[in-house]
Amino acid sequence: MIAGKRSKVNRREFIKGVAVAAVALPAITCGASPLVRSAPGTMQASSDCEWCGAGDAPANPPARIVIPPRDEPGEPLVISGTVYQEDGKTPATGITIYAYHTNAAGIYPKRTPDDGRPQWRHGYLRGWMRTGRDGKYEFRTIKPAAYPGRREPAHIHLTMSGGDYPEYPGTFWFADDPLVTPEVRARNNAIVATRLMRPAVILTLKRDESGVLRGTHNIRLERITG
Ligand SMILES: [Fe+2]
Repeated sequence: MIAGKRSKVNRREFIKGVAVAAVALPAITCGASPLVRSAPGTMQASSDCEWCGAGDAPANPPARIVIPPRDEPGEPLVISGTVYQEDGKTPATGITIYAYHTNAAGIYPKRTPDDGRPQWRHGYLRGWMRTGRDGKYEFRTIKPAAYPGRREPAHIHLTMSGGDYPEYPGTFWFADDPLVTPEVRARNNAIVATRLMRPAVILTLKRDESGVLRGTHNIRLERITG
């Protein structure tokens, strides 16, 4: 699912636009199979993965992944759900979901000093999933923190694509985040979806019997291109 050179450039602009929109307008945007650790850095499709998104996925990513390395500080978090076709009922097969987020300090962590290469712009807390016949996805990670000293809610960025659905973004916020104020919720609810922006999904996290935070969100695919 690696795009050709021309579409790669277009995708780069798309992913860049998604990131800029989420940063600049945060208040209004923003199984049964064994778990597979995404091994950040090794699942990167290639060295030309300049912005990365669903379209930059490595070959055949699993539907369930673990994003952080074992020693990553932070509160364990599992997010899962089912991707459905536009009818909201039929599980969507072969949909790629790319997720990336900050660490427990609100930083997109780099493995090496920033040398200017753009492929690490999203940090190493990221991974790709692809739905199977049941449409399910799951990623285990740590709960991200908000950017230090800023008002944007803590968030997880997503992009999704597959089949004949064009790539589009998503964002998760957390209902218990003090930065998700009534005003922020109101502005989020007022967003009209476009190719570059969607209202954030505000997840209510619950602890399972082992104390791990869990959030569930089912995704209904859309074809909005405006
Ligand atoms: Fe972000």
